[in-house]
Amino acid sequence: MELHIAQDLDQLSRDLADWITEHIQSTLERQDRYTWSLSGGSTPRRLYELLTRPGYKEKIPWEKLHLFWGDERAVPFDDERNNGRMTYEALLRHVPVPEDQIHYMRTDIGPEASAAAYEKLLHQYFGATGTSFDLVLLGMGDDGHTLSLFPGLPVVHEQEAWVTSFYLPTQQMHRITLTAPIVNRSAQVVFLAAGAGKADTLKEVLEGPFRPEQFPSQVIRPSAGTLHWFVDKAAAARLNSHT
Ligand code: 6PG
Repeated sequence: MELHIAQDLDQLSRDLADWITEHIQSTLERQDRYTWSLSGGSTPRRLYELLTRPGYKEKIPWEKLHLFWGDERAVPFDDERNNGRMTYEALLRHVPVPEDQIHYMRTDIGPEASAAAYEKLLHQYFGATGTSFDLVLLGMGDDGHTLSLFPGLPVVHEQEAWVTSFYLPTQQMHRITLTAPIVNRSAQVVFLAAGAGKADTLKEVLEGPFRPEQFPSQVIRPSAGTLHWFVDKAAAARLNSHT
């Protein structure tokens, strides 16, 4: 695991924008397409906005990007809670990624049908390569969830399906989410987390015993790839390795 600690969210977003730009460039020296699973939540918005600015925008070969999402809230695309919409507003409407390479999780059909369609799409896309994304960007909730893998839910322990959907009573909505088996086949997994509200949980996730029931972020352990945590000082405050 590689831990990157920045002063604040602003610096953290710039550090990660630099890292992603460089990773896209170096990956595309070896292959023709770059496959990225984007995250929702609020923390990556600043990162997405930065990537549309001079200094980043012209360095990224947008036409070679193939984009997917880690999870989705089953609300219409024009609802502010929709992860696809947030990413579209902050990033995708400003950069020239071909539309047929942007794979939103659909919310105009039922959640089960949407999850099944996404599962099929991913199997077609990755085939039998045994690997998956070049990059999966993730967030972590204050309660230790990532993607829509919430504490105590069976989806945390999913071993077969790559995509699933379920009803989340605490938020009174359905969720559609990738699962650990597909994410753990990725080349790089990057968690982006900021703020004092995540400090206690981050300590448990990184330095506590393996208790995925309580801290689902712990199930994300790429089998051949690299796991990175990009965090700010406030989130890192309780870590032993805090500098
Ligand atoms: C979602 C997410 C979720 C998110 C975390 C962190 O749709 O809710 O994809 O896993 O990344 O909840 O969210 P914040 O960045 O808002 O803290």
